Amino acid sequence: MAGFVCRVPSAAGRGRPAVWAVAQANVALVKYWGKAPGPGHQPATTSVSLTLDGLTSAARVEERRANRPDRVAWAPPGPVADLARFVGHARTQLGIARPLDVLVTSNFPVAAGLASSASAYAALTTALAALAVDPPSVDRLAALARHGSGSACRSMFGGFVQWRPGDDARAVTQLAAPEHWPLAVLVAVSGSGPKRVPSRDGMRRTQETSPFFDAWLATNAADLAAVREAVGSRDLRALGTAAERNALRMHATALGADPPLLYWEAATIAVVREVWRLREDGVPAYFTIDAGPQVKVLCNPGDSQRVGQALAGVPGVSHVLRSRPGGAPRVLREPPEWAFASCPPPAVGRGRA
Ligand code: PMV
Repeated sequence: MAGFVCRVPSAAGRGRPAVWAVAQANVALVKYWGKAPGPGHQPATTSVSLTLDGLTSAARVEERRANRPDRVAWAPPGPVADLARFVGHARTQLGIARPLDVLVTSNFPVAAGLASSASAYAALTTALAALAVDPPSVDRLAALARHGSGSACRSMFGGFVQWRPGDDARAVTQLAAPEHWPLAVLVAVSGSGPKRVPSRDGMRRTQETSPFFDAWLATNAADLAAVREAVGSRDLRALGTAAERNALRMHATALGADPPLLYWEAATIAVVREVWRLREDGVPAYFTIDAGPQVKVLCNPGDSQRVGQALAGVPGVSHVLRSRPGGAPRVLREPPEWAFASCPPPAVGRGRA
């Protein structure tokens, strides 16, 4: 995957060495689409996701001299005002006194329904925690990551992850480790521009104006039970059926908003039809779609070649990303190769004074 230019002026010599952390995107199998009252993106319902190996965000944090403002950057450019707000909040929560230089970057399209904000805030939370004098538990870090983007709390864990309403230590939990079920996840990318309505705005609009929103909330318990059971028994048919149903109902609810929210492109529907055609041909493949045109397809690893070829042949699909269950965020002392590809070493915090 492509590396991005990440020239953040180095704050060399002004504090402890820079810290990098990486975290993976996640795909929701039971969607979070609606908020409960309260700070930091409380969900209206319980969601379940799968953390995706290889769809990675990296964050770099480094202390600046005292009495400077925080300096934040998102490469390629992302919603930087939200990022700055989050950094301010996280510094207070983690007791980081010195101002910070922060860079966040991802190796896949930003804000196009590929959950880049989830992995970005999970990576950033992990990097910031490494600077904390008294680093909190992963549960508290998940609660913190939720202030950046709700779904980020799920990227604080690997594998299958559940997020339920509430602020207690068990609000975000791992249902199963990535090794539990070696599924293949293919992402049919059909547009990499920014999505028209960010998920947090789309969610609010749906909640405030869609006459279907209460019905959507009422479907949560059954979908949750079905997905949890399917994960436990590694039943792809049961998992896929519930995930497809849940995704279609989320989008149906959003279509009912005023003005309506249509995240799909022509290629999105063509991929859905291709997945259904594959199933008619006896290939167990199932889709889900988040707040963007991309379609994520779950299948057995042994079918991923065939499914990938079929998806790549759908008109409007520019490329297919291949993933599988991924792990928890990690702290790095060096930037990851891909995030560093186009930056000469001295530009990103090496060689301090
Ligand atoms: O966490 P946000 O604000 O990016 O919202 C995520 C919304 C969906 O991706 C559509 C669903 C989900 O559960 O991830």
